[in-house]
Amino acid sequence: MTILVTGGAGFIGSNFILEWLASSNEAVINLDAMTYAGNMDNLQSLAGDFRHIFVNGNIGDFDLVADLLSRHKPRAIVNFAAESHVDRSIRGPEDFIQANVVGTFRLLEAARAYRAGQDRDAAAPFSFLHISTDEVYGTLAADAPAFTESNRYEPNSPYSASKAASDHLVRAYHHTYGLPVLTTNCSNNYGPRQFPEKLIPLCIHNALAGKPLPVYGDGRQVRDWLYVNDHCSAIRCVLERGRHGEIYNIGGWNEKTNLEVVHTLCRILDQLQPRPDGRSYGDQIVFVRDRPGHDRRYAIDATKVQRELGWSPAETFETGIRKTVEWYLDNQAWVVNVTSGAYRSWVERQYGI
Ligand code: NAD
Ligand code: TYD
Repeated sequence: MTILVTGGAGFIGSNFILEWLASSNEAVINLDAMTYAGNMDNLQSLAGDFRHIFVNGNIGDFDLVADLLSRHKPRAIVNFAAESHVDRSIRGPEDFIQANVVGTFRLLEAARAYRAGQDRDAAAPFSFLHISTDEVYGTLAADAPAFTESNRYEPNSPYSASKAASDHLVRAYHHTYGLPVLTTNCSNNYGPRQFPEKLIPLCIHNALAGKPLPVYGDGRQVRDWLYVNDHCSAIRCVLERGRHGEIYNIGGWNEKTNLEVVHTLCRILDQLQPRPDGRSYGDQIVFVRDRPGHDRRYAIDATKVQRELGWSPAETFETGIRKTVEWYLDNQAWVVNVTSGAYRSWVERQYGI
């Protein structure tokens, strides 16, 4: 058996594939368009591994996806492919509509055609697992209960609006065409291999480079943080035991203000790699102009996935954040390749683009 993973050269997708192949021999077809966020360094340890079949292509390419589905006959599609950074969506929303809305639509169309022709056997196993975000629910007041699966969708950024649109399409393909879909809405991930444009890897990188640690607005916005491997274990759980047509919220019960997160990073770095001048990395914190439309608080109620599927996270914020800092310290070559742009050379060498 085989699964098709999209966006598998990105942060969460690559961690998912590495864990998948560490615990199973089921092959993975990895379809990734290799945008700036796609990085083959993430999958270096799989070089020469016949269980990982990499395809450089777009989820919006119906013919390519249809061909992959008919040749490999996967039992599932796990759709990570997306433009994922809120600040980029504010500067240029178009790419988000193309990748997240049009791309997901075309992927669903290819899945629908595949399912319709799947040996004409309705019992043949198939799931379309769509990876989404808590940001579709909008923002919470300080004392409001955490998001459950029945919260209204109130996306506030072009990113979250494009993810919300894709979630609605996934829902509609189940309701209208009977496509066996599953949707997960997860909170903020952190961990190894995250592109250093997101808060945690950006601050680790800037701290070590002696650069400012930019905190938006007053830094009191709250996010609910989940270690990436815990997100991956939840996805495996939903894939194996989830009920088609259902939504599962995934989170770590780890609400932190951005300032708490940045101070924690500084404290760990002060211990593991003290500044040469003996001062704290905390001295590098600067408050900068706020993000337009910045959501104040996200929080996930993960009761459903815990109760119905028996999933729970293995890491606390304290254990996960320490592992993350250690990974970045141990993998400075990865960081240098990303920040210098050298990681793109694989795509250029391989594809001339
Ligand atoms: P990422 O930006 O690190 O990786 C995205 C990957 O998708 C990249 O490898 C990119 O090349 C690829 N891609 C983009 N457009 C594509 C297209 N049209 N066709 C094929 N490949 C394409 O993102 P991530 O942080 O790994 O997020 C993965 C998924 O999880 C996204 O759908 C995101 O919305 C969702 N999510 C992320 C978080 C988080 O905190 N990072 C939290 C919840 C949900
Ligand atoms: P980010 O990692 O971009 O994730 P998201 O916007 O999807 O939650 O940002 C996490 C939080 O950190 C968010 O409230 C914005 C804030 N932030 C900063 O304060 N400074 C930064 O440089 C970045 C990138 C984010």
